[in-house]
Amino acid sequence: PIQVVVAIDGPSGSGKSTVSKEIARRLNLGYLDTGAMYRAVTWWAMHEGTDFAEPSAVVEAARNAPVEISTDPDHQFVRVGGTDVTDAIRTPEVTSQVSSVATVPAAREVLVQRQRGIIADSGRRIVAEGRDITTVVAPDAEARILLVASEQARMNRRGAQLGGSQDAEALRQQVVGRDAKDSTVVNFSTAADGVVTLDNSELTLEQSVTAVMDLVLRAV
Ligand code: C5P
Repeated sequence: PIQVVVAIDGPSGSGKSTVSKEIARRLNLGYLDTGAMYRAVTWWAMHEGTDFAEPSAVVEAARNAPVEISTDPDHQFVRVGGTDVTDAIRTPEVTSQVSSVATVPAAREVLVQRQRGIIADSGRRIVAEGRDITTVVAPDAEARILLVASEQARMNRRGAQLGGSQDAEALRQQVVGRDAKDSTVVNFSTAADGVVTLDNSELTLEQSVTAVMDLVLRAV
């Protein structure tokens, strides 16, 4: 079995979750969705009535949230203290609040440490995706990729994911608005040294997977 850490960053709607999961399946690696960890902490903080305007309260929530996350690409789930929140963390309510956790540096530090632990526990056989994997969580990953796509392509994909029920302005807010907030604390629009940028605006899912697979196999 090949031993490799694959780090994939990108904005929302870049297809990084779908591509990362598929790479993990094909290479028989674990899969870590770090966004799900930020979402789970956010769900917990909302559940606990945390004051999001108070950074120390947000850090407390990040430390105390009993988050359990699956690294099996074929059986993804997230639990918080025994409650299955796999679907609950994807609601618009959580999605629009998650930047309030992600923009608190000390809360990020808590999650980054856990993510590094999960990568170590995998025996360095994992695909980890998010916003700061190539730069902060696993700058030592063998394969580091920044997946990007045009704003239009990202909005189209997110719209399709949500079943086409959202109007254009709500979609733009969810995709572009969230990225704007997130990018105040992490840079995922330009590739760091040694990170390969892949623009998949014009690629099908299968073509994106093939392109990433080539990069990974070249790195091992
Ligand atoms: O990837 P996903 O859209 O599920 O991520 C949800 C949110 O989690 C992002 O909008 C961002 O605020 C935060 N996030 C982050 N760093 C990561 C992964 C996600 O700040 N590595």
